[in-house]
Amino acid sequence: MADIKREYTNGEVTVIWQAAKCIHAASCFRELPEVFDPSQRPWINMDGADTDRIIKQVKRCPTDALTYYMNKEKEQENNPQITEVEVLKDGPVLVKGKLNYKDNKGNSKEIDGVMALCRCGASKTKPFCDGTHHHVGFSDDK
Ligand code: FES
Repeated sequence: MADIKREYTNGEVTVIWQAAKCIHAASCFRELPEVFDPSQRPWINMDGADTDRIIKQVKRCPTDALTYYMNKEKEQENNPQITEVEVLKDGPVLVKGKLNYKDNKGNSKEIDGVMALCRCGASKTKPFCDGTHHHVGFSDDK
């Protein structure tokens, strides 16, 4: 059979059908005809059952002609989390998200959260903000 590959989704899960791998074992349309019906076009109706039931059936495909992926997981793979940098008025720079932090001694550690970096120069815990900017009157307007 031709190298046909089709994807069907209900917004939560996507079922992939690869025609070349299909041996017409027919377990999909015998066991879940509400979703898999070769007499219909498209032959996979993703509204015919809930996601869990569809996944359960796809896993029973003996040749992997039917496979699936969860849309959310695929989306995260394609769009790794973006690290955000925010300059606070009269205060530190916030760095939010996943990053690898290296200090001036060569130590590094992965951070997944929020880090406040000093902009005023008065922090006793540089490069991190310790709140001293309030006491020294640091201002973006000066
Ligand atoms: S910005 Fe907060 S201590 Fe410098």
